[in-house]
Amino acid sequence: MTDKFKHRAINLEVVPFPVRIKAEWNRLIQLLSHLISNAVKYSHVGDLVTLQLTQTSGWAIIQVSDKGDGILLSQQSRIFEPLYQVDPSCARATGKPGLGLSIVKHLAEGMGGKVAILSEPSQVMVALLFSHYLL
Ligand SMILES: Nc1ncnc2c1ncn2[C@@H]1O[C@H](COP(=O)(O)OP(=O)(O)O)[C@@H](O)[C@H]1O
Ligand SMILES: [Mg+2]
Repeated sequence: MTDKFKHRAINLEVVPFPVRIKAEWNRLIQLLSHLISNAVKYSHVGDLVTLQLTQTSGWAIIQVSDKGDGILLSQQSRIFEPLYQVDPSCARATGKPGLGLSIVKHLAEGMGGKVAILSEPSQVMVALLFSHYLL
């Protein structure tokens, strides 16, 4: 994906060991690509986008974070609804509608995973959680 996002700085923070997850490669790439696209689209050029991989006893957690305007708490649950946009005029201006977070959620859950969002002003973090195998 480095070519697609070469105009932005993407910071990678990953655990120093391999993590084997229960997911389908092509779908995982689609999901990540969409979450990074959102992070890039809804934050400002020069702001850092961070991709983080961590692991708990049950889950591998992939977080995509940006320092854009954030999403109000009242809207955080709605953004996973099909075709929901916080600001339709702004999104239309910044690019054509893409995969959609409702599909991200559907695909993640179809692989036994979960998707969660945390946001406050100037901070958005979307997390994908997948079961992992102990290596
Ligand atoms: N990283 C983000 N920062 C701020 N808002 C976001 C972010 N990701 C998603 N959103 C909001 O959630 C809405 C739904 O996202 P998505 O389904 O990907 O649709 P879109 O095609 O508009 O990107 C977006 O229109 C936007 O309002
Ligand atoms: Mg999008």
